[in-house]
Amino acid sequence: MDTPARTQSTRLDPYVDRYAARTAGMTASEIRALFAVASRPEVVSLAGGMPNISGLPLDVVGEAISGLLRDNGPMALQYSSGQGEPELREQITEVMRLEGINAHPDDVVVTVGSQQAVDLVTRVFCDPGDVVICEAPSYVGALGVFKAYQCDVVHAEVDADGLVPEALRQAIAAVKAAGKRIKFLYTIPNFHNPAGVTMTAERRLEVIDICRREGVLVLEDNPYGLLGFDQEPMRAIRADAPDGVIYLGSFSKTFSPGMRVGWALAPHSVREKLVLAQESATLCPPTFNQFAVSAYLREHDWQGQIKQMREMYRERRDAMNEALHDLMPASCEWNVPAGGFFVWLKLPPGVDAKGMLPRAVTARVAYVPGTAFFADGFGTGYMRLSFCYPTPERIREGVRRLAGVLEAEMELRETFGASAPPRRIGGGYDGPTSDLT
Ligand SMILES: Cc1ncc(COP(=O)(O)O)c(C=O)c1O
Repeated sequence: MDTPARTQSTRLDPYVDRYAARTAGMTASEIRALFAVASRPEVVSLAGGMPNISGLPLDVVGEAISGLLRDNGPMALQYSSGQGEPELREQITEVMRLEGINAHPDDVVVTVGSQQAVDLVTRVFCDPGDVVICEAPSYVGALGVFKAYQCDVVHAEVDADGLVPEALRQAIAAVKAAGKRIKFLYTIPNFHNPAGVTMTAERRLEVIDICRREGVLVLEDNPYGLLGFDQEPMRAIRADAPDGVIYLGSFSKTFSPGMRVGWALAPHSVREKLVLAQESATLCPPTFNQFAVSAYLREHDWQGQIKQMREMYRERRDAMNEALHDLMPASCEWNVPAGGFFVWLKLPPGVDAKGMLPRAVTARVAYVPGTAFFADGFGTGYMRLSFCYPTPERIREGVRRLAGVLEAEMELRETFGASAPPRRIGGGYDGPTSDLT
């Protein structure tokens, strides 16, 4: 049989007047095309947040998977519960105990990565026009979900100690004064994506107190919490506010993102709604993957594996920090993250990270411009640099190239005054791409 010709993406879309209004919020990223170039081997990508799984014991994983098929194949290859496999939910409660959470497996819902958990929670809570308070900046993939459900995102600032309580108070007051409904606060307390910061223990309690007083539910998204470089895991917000928090976790960063196994821990009534939403979305999360993650946790020293990952990421964080110190113009500022994958870099005044990106990619280095992490067009003077994937040598080389591009940009600005970029791509949120995890 002949293969049908590939449809040209330039053709007019015959369905253009039939899509639901919510698809207007599902915009393709203007920088997606650049990321296609950025994935070429000659480009050092400091853009994508891909976990570095090169250290995973593939033989152990392979053994666990073949044992699973041998001993439990018919079950592992079958539909299963919409809430997720009981053994895995039990194991998830053990993982969460490392962060002070004492939960019952009944209150856990297994999801297709924590990304799906953000989607299900938003689906269950948000009508168009409802407000979600997000940190400024916030995770691009969550902003994409909120936009797809036509929520209004209101940002509250973060500083080196995480979400600023006074900014949260002000955001809540402003939304209430405008007569709108806040459905939840979305926060990433540990090793924030993209800001790299961690909320202090005092601030966590203050955030709980504010949200309790104001009747605001907290959505605590915590994929990086076990990846601290020099510290034991911090106590989760959920640990001190079981009734006011939906907690999201994931095996993507501590085992394998390809497994697509994450979870939500929610107050009982919410959990029931999430299971119904999960059933309507997927019937059940992938049974096979759940069994595989379960076997990995059961048969492997997963905590030892995480320790190795922390050391590997720490080495990369140090390489990036050193390279930034040695090579970047003095007027740049950045934080030194205590865990996770990301450095948030503030550019010299007037430099536009998005405008500069094509020139950076030409110089064979990529990053994510700050505007991707705001719903309101802010962030032109910032960029996210990830150190998780490239080797320390490649990180240094990437920073060297980036410093060269930045210096050329600054020289241009000095010579010609204002906007060096030949084309100012409009600000605002970009929509998620696979490079923007
Ligand atoms: C803050 C945050 N939340 C959620 C996710 C989604 O992770 P996954 O769906 O792989 O669990 C990511 C991925 O990068 C993330 O950084």
